[in-house]
Amino acid sequence: MKELLRVRDLRTYFHTDDGVVKAVDGVDLSISDGETLGVVGESGCGKSVTARSVMRLLQEPPARIESGEILFRKKNGEVVDITKLKPHGSAMRATRGNEIAMIFQEPMMSLSPIHTIGQQIGEMLRHHRGLEKSEAREKAIELLEVVRIPRPGAVVDSYPHQLSGGMCQRALIALAISCDPALLIADEPTTALDVTVQAQVLRLLRDIQRERGMGLMIITHDMGVIAQTADHVAVVYFGKLVETGPVAEIFRNPQHPYTRALFSSIPKITGSDRLSPITGSVPDPYHVVRGCPFRDRCPSRFSRCESEEIPALYPVGNGHTARCFLHATSDVRSTDE
Ligand SMILES: Nc1ncnc2c1ncn2[C@@H]1O[C@H](COP(=O)(O)OP(=O)(O)OP(=O)(O)O)[C@@H](O)[C@H]1O
Ligand SMILES: [Mg+2]
Repeated sequence: MKELLRVRDLRTYFHTDDGVVKAVDGVDLSISDGETLGVVGESGCGKSVTARSVMRLLQEPPARIESGEILFRKKNGEVVDITKLKPHGSAMRATRGNEIAMIFQEPMMSLSPIHTIGQQIGEMLRHHRGLEKSEAREKAIELLEVVRIPRPGAVVDSYPHQLSGGMCQRALIALAISCDPALLIADEPTTALDVTVQAQVLRLLRDIQRERGMGLMIITHDMGVIAQTADHVAVVYFGKLVETGPVAEIFRNPQHPYTRALFSSIPKITGSDRLSPITGSVPDPYHVVRGCPFRDRCPSRFSRCESEEIPALYPVGNGHTARCFLHATSDVRSTDE
């Protein structure tokens, strides 16, 4: 499998009147063709800012990509560093929607209320593919079929408010895949939907991803969603990647105390284990944290954790790394590979 996206030590900060928010402060990710990466972490840990950095959809300023690389392989084989592109420049506009597409948590907010579904998909196809109006409409109907919308010939002329939340999310997926992107980023794609619809939409995303061989980044705070969709997992905490590895490894053998805490906060159907919420809360984003950001909530802290040193990503298995001094068997820093 060829690598499609590699994010290296990304740092995206917000420069506000009240201070600097280090929303993303050391995130490393990799996605290959046809692979699904699940990005998981509590609210406010920088998942959406990471995704919006890849899409260059942040308002810059106050946001600024301070350092790091976002290497993306385009359909023509060229590798570009997205951090070097202008957010509104022609290169980024040709990439966004066409090479990398994104779907958001709130389908109703992402679709225009004053245009039909067909007009919105058609606009994308005309912009990136130069299709004529009638061709674009035909293609829009085909896409609505792909996302298993019943009566696509009628839905194409519907407005978002005429559709249910689940149907809107399907229409949004149709819009996202209209230009055959190599990478799809889905930011909490099912959070706003009810549970049965969530399962259908996740299955749809997984099927489309497999059929088209797309790379998929699925962002969630729900380990259940990760279990159903992901090949690899990236756990983020307070803007930092704290653990990454193959999904089976992370579920069987989580190595970072934060990942373990995420698992023990999930209800289990069987067994009598008590649910243990993660104690404490994420540090205030304006607060300057020195040393390990999970230290104050960590049940496994020891002397080295009291220092101002930030743990590196230490290798803990095959393709599995954890940012925790428990795994610092030597002073050789990992190369994050
Ligand atoms: N425009 C902004 N100005 C200042 N801080 C911001 C801005 N947008 C986001 N942040 C901060 O960046 C941090 C990361 O936010 P982000 O939206 O990426 O979190 P998240 O992991 O997606 O959370 P959630 O699960 O709630 O969606 C948060 O502390 C947030 O308050
Ligand atoms: Mg978010």
